[in-house]
Amino acid sequence: MKEKIYIISGTNREAAVSLQVAHIYQDVFERKGVESEIIDLQNLPDDFIAAALYSNAGTHEGMKDMRKKMKEGKKFLFVVPEYNGSFPGVLKAFIDGLIFPDSFTGKKAALVGLSSGIQGGVLAMSHLTDILNYCGTHVLARKVKLAGIGKNMQNGEITNDLYNQLIDWQVDEFLDF
Ligand SMILES: Cc1cc2nc3c(=O)[nH]c(=O)nc-3n(C[C@H](O)[C@H](O)[C@H](O)COP(=O)(O)O)c2cc1C
Repeated sequence: MKEKIYIISGTNREAAVSLQVAHIYQDVFERKGVESEIIDLQNLPDDFIAAALYSNAGTHEGMKDMRKKMKEGKKFLFVVPEYNGSFPGVLKAFIDGLIFPDSFTGKKAALVGLSSGIQGGVLAMSHLTDILNYCGTHVLARKVKLAGIGKNMQNGEITNDLYNQLIDWQVDEFLDF
């Protein structure tokens, strides 16, 4: 029986494409008989920066469930949109609000990046890898880069055969990781 995977949709932007990509991964996991659950950063409480970090960590009702899942989960798939050549600040703030080191030590993560431009989140994933490694999480070497996302998705589906193949390979490797 494979571990449940938590899929983190790495932005709180309304109508985020990242959430669509998170659902695509959830479908692939389901096809392979593996349970997964999406943690959507759009569900962070509006006041989480002011009321759920630092001395308020662990006290905000609206973040308790997410913190618990990140503490208890063992495998995480991060969907990482490229914002100004890196990953979104809200994702770093989310990480800063988690239980350290229990949410990270010895955990495993896989990353998929997406961007409108040609990088496919390659730098964003590199930056996130540094942070996850620092915190004690192992990151799968195979990272999927979904460049030109606007041209390669339609109605919530990826229309690029190579992208779909890369996702499938990455999921297989992540399940054995
Ligand atoms: C604040 C912000 C910064 C962005 N910076 C970049 C960038 O540096 N390079 C790029 O190719 N696309 C950039 N984009 C476009 C996003 O990568 C693209 O819209 C992608 O779909 C974002 O994922 P999302 O829909 O989940 O927010 C940016 C978008 C936003 C909202």
